[in-house]
Amino acid sequence: MIPRYLVNFDLDDLPGIPCDLVVVGSGVAGLSTALRAARRFRVALLTKTTLTVTATRIAQGGIASALGADDSPELHFQDTIQAGKGLCEEEAVWTLVREGPMRITELIEEVGAHFDTVDGHLDLTIEGGHSRRRVAHARGDATGSELEASLTRRLIYNKRLDVYENYYVLDILTVDGRCIGVLGMDVEEGTINYFRAPAVVLAMGGMGQLYPVTTNPEICTGDGVPMALRAGAEVSDLEFLQFHPTSLHLPETPRWLISEALRGEGAIIVDHAGKRIMEGVHPLKDLAPRDTVVNEMVRVMKKMGIDHLYLDATHIPADKLKERFPTIYKHCLEAGVDITQVPIPVSPAAHYMSGGVITDLNGMTRVRGLYACGEVACTGVHGANRLASNSLLEGLVFSWRIMQDLPQAIEEGSRDLEKTCGLKHKIRRSRLPVEVNLLRPFLQQMMMDCVGFRRSRESLGEAWEFLAKNIGVLQVEYVSPQGFELQNMITLASLMVRAALLREESRGCHYRVDFPGQAEFWRKHIVFRKGGRGTTHELRPVGELTGSGYDWAAVTEKGQ
Ligand code: SIN
Repeated sequence: MIPRYLVNFDLDDLPGIPCDLVVVGSGVAGLSTALRAARRFRVALLTKTTLTVTATRIAQGGIASALGADDSPELHFQDTIQAGKGLCEEEAVWTLVREGPMRITELIEEVGAHFDTVDGHLDLTIEGGHSRRRVAHARGDATGSELEASLTRRLIYNKRLDVYENYYVLDILTVDGRCIGVLGMDVEEGTINYFRAPAVVLAMGGMGQLYPVTTNPEICTGDGVPMALRAGAEVSDLEFLQFHPTSLHLPETPRWLISEALRGEGAIIVDHAGKRIMEGVHPLKDLAPRDTVVNEMVRVMKKMGIDHLYLDATHIPADKLKERFPTIYKHCLEAGVDITQVPIPVSPAAHYMSGGVITDLNGMTRVRGLYACGEVACTGVHGANRLASNSLLEGLVFSWRIMQDLPQAIEEGSRDLEKTCGLKHKIRRSRLPVEVNLLRPFLQQMMMDCVGFRRSRESLGEAWEFLAKNIGVLQVEYVSPQGFELQNMITLASLMVRAALLREESRGCHYRVDFPGQAEFWRKHIVFRKGGRGTTHELRPVGELTGSGYDWAAVTEKGQ
């Protein structure tokens, strides 16, 4: 059983921090939403550790958008749809590709972000699955860092925006299907506060830490999806966890992203004998969509009985490599690999969740006043496999759109906030905590072995058994973020396994060795929502991700 809240509480006993909007997360989606909203509203921005520890900050490749003279939103649309393997929501993709160029222009002109240019024009590169050069980048391969820095610089001009660092958000509070704020733990003090707000935006990023090898930072434990589910939102497409083909593979060294942009500039994936592996596999060779490249890498590694391949950039002039990829060059050199001289050892690593909390085109979830944006959200733009460098763009475009609806939600919700008096939650919880540090690595390894890029009924069955044995963790009374993270990871893993078991076909990032083909029947989203003591699922045809639309009045009437 999934409890409604991770902790027992009585709101009347908690310190209340009032505001108009709570934004959870400080990556591109969270920062852009908070900055725009703070022009009008009092905003509390909560972040798990410090402002700059986000997946955005370490994003290398860039932001895709139809800005080149030979490009158009139509071409960007086609590439996104093709990569998404039949599961993209077309309206959401149109929104992304049409509004993307405007958001990037604003970023440059209003926010002051500096992108790399040549002769006064943006220096656009190409990544997997793109038919045109359309990926804008900054400081070579430090795009995320530039974005994050330019957005955080704007925070200081905002008197209506308060930043709360080292805050672990436990749950979204709701009354009668309406969001009334969040419960957040001040990690340094160990105290829980009630952030009282008529609207909340979840921008909490991804869940790569569910796997032992990932390009994601430590904070990415996937808390947002289980939290939104507990609050009554719908979640979808969780079987589509994207592996990035090239993470640095060295013994005893944490995985580290080696940007696809390196392949955009000519690097190639080779085996131990120096043979190109993507030759003859796909017309775009090393720049095929990510799922195709990972699939071939896994096939070759399995056949040869090896655990990594190489990314060879040694034929690119050394000066160009150092100038265009300063971060990668420096990081690899520190790890003992001079990328100008030797091929880089690489293997795939968990990278990006294509699914998440379902939202409409204005970021609305099924819970009135609750919005989601960025990797935690499922707008339907990524389908079964995200097109490279569409994620920063998604964060920018859809965070902007949240403002379309937010003022009304804040106004309506503020009138209802009085109802929060007396909200409490008390259930019996087990006082024998499962040792988090022991279970977490087992969970991660199980996910890699059983719910990795290749799955089968057998491996997923093993995963299910593991999760069933450990489901009692959800009833434990934890008092630290590590415990709450474990509870969220177990919840999310269960949803991912269920979705992967249900989807008896292979599509995009979901590869079933026992169902290697793609089936027309499965042009559907697997949507979960909390129901009774557990979760229920529904298959929703492509084009209908939000079902009959998020009509909040109707949802609330049903007493959700
Ligand atoms: C990369 O630089 O390869 C990552 C870009 C992305 O995941 O979109």
